[in-house]
Amino acid sequence: MTSRLPGFHRESITARRQALACLVDLAANDLALLDGGGLAIASADQMVENAVGLFGLPLGLGVNLQVNGRDVLIPMVTEEASVIAGLSNGARLARSGGGISAEADPPLMLGQIQVMDAPDGAAALAALGQHRGEIMAAADRPHPTIVSLGGGARRLDARLATSPVGEMLILGLQMDVRDAMGANAVNTSMEAIAPLVESLTGGRVVVRVLSNLADARLARASCRVPLDALAFDEWPGEAVAQRIVEGGAFALVDVHRAATHNKGIMNGIDAVALATGNDWRAIEAGAHAYAARSGVYLPLSTWQIEHGALAGRLELPLAVGIVGGATHRHPVAALSLRIIGASSATALAEVMAAVGLAQNLAALRVLATEGIQQGHMRLHSRHAQSAAPC
Ligand code: MEV
Repeated sequence: MTSRLPGFHRESITARRQALACLVDLAANDLALLDGGGLAIASADQMVENAVGLFGLPLGLGVNLQVNGRDVLIPMVTEEASVIAGLSNGARLARSGGGISAEADPPLMLGQIQVMDAPDGAAALAALGQHRGEIMAAADRPHPTIVSLGGGARRLDARLATSPVGEMLILGLQMDVRDAMGANAVNTSMEAIAPLVESLTGGRVVVRVLSNLADARLARASCRVPLDALAFDEWPGEAVAQRIVEGGAFALVDVHRAATHNKGIMNGIDAVALATGNDWRAIEAGAHAYAARSGVYLPLSTWQIEHGALAGRLELPLAVGIVGGATHRHPVAALSLRIIGASSATALAEVMAAVGLAQNLAALRVLATEGIQQGHMRLHSRHAQSAAPC
């Protein structure tokens, strides 16, 4: 299967669908899902409170991406005109250097419990430590499937914190949630262990919930683009690479630029999250909190010229799943996951990190050379050409 599809954007929607069906082995009824957005109003009513309708958005296919040597087509849901073209462009450039390498950590998520009014903080910490095994077993009890698949509670820690409302104890429980995003599993466990935590600490449990700063569940992507692949129009590749490095460094020293730099990365990641039924708000919260982990908000990616190539690296938390929630309840989300062909949550995270890096490369290339408005005009004129009868 190749994702390298030159001229795909010039094809009709019917021809693109035919190519997609052929490349990833879809049937006519799969393609039919793409017509109306795939979600029945009755399903919408099951998903949210007070449903009154459906809301459509374009679903497009990002092409040219190669991740860890595998060609992959990327379903993306977005209302922003340049996002899918940007990903396809960045992926084409990265491909000329062998594609994007990506890796993701095991799916470890953190649950937190806040305890107030523990009569003796030090004794409460000690009691939690002594009953660690019991607490972890209670956290596992609601999740026999996750445990049978090799997941479950992994680590427990607790600390005391001074706050404006008095001393509080904060318990953290790390869980391996396997192929789920993990919010439901972790929240269920936190609520299950809360009574035990109260009795061990003698305190009062207040908040018990998952943390969206999934910093034990990082995904990393890197690529090396040969300098001559970056050349276009009158721009020599070396000058483009130098300008991309300079544009990336702007985000390192200026928080206003860093926010926009990271927004460009999230343009692609969010579009895949939406297409696959993943919680893009959770991913956004985690990404920006991670960007600010040093106390200074920094870019999630960096660019350098190394050994005659432009080298890019990206790292961010990616709490995504291929089971549970809308990933299976929404028929188009399930179809998108089939198109990506990710066999695990970590494989999906790797693809999404690669998307973020390619998106960033495309944005920096256009920003640091012809400019974003000029680049958009080029895109629009391409659309106008493709709409003309042939
Ligand atoms: C626009 O949606 C995203 C960009 O602003 C990202 C960036 O500036 O790097 C182009």
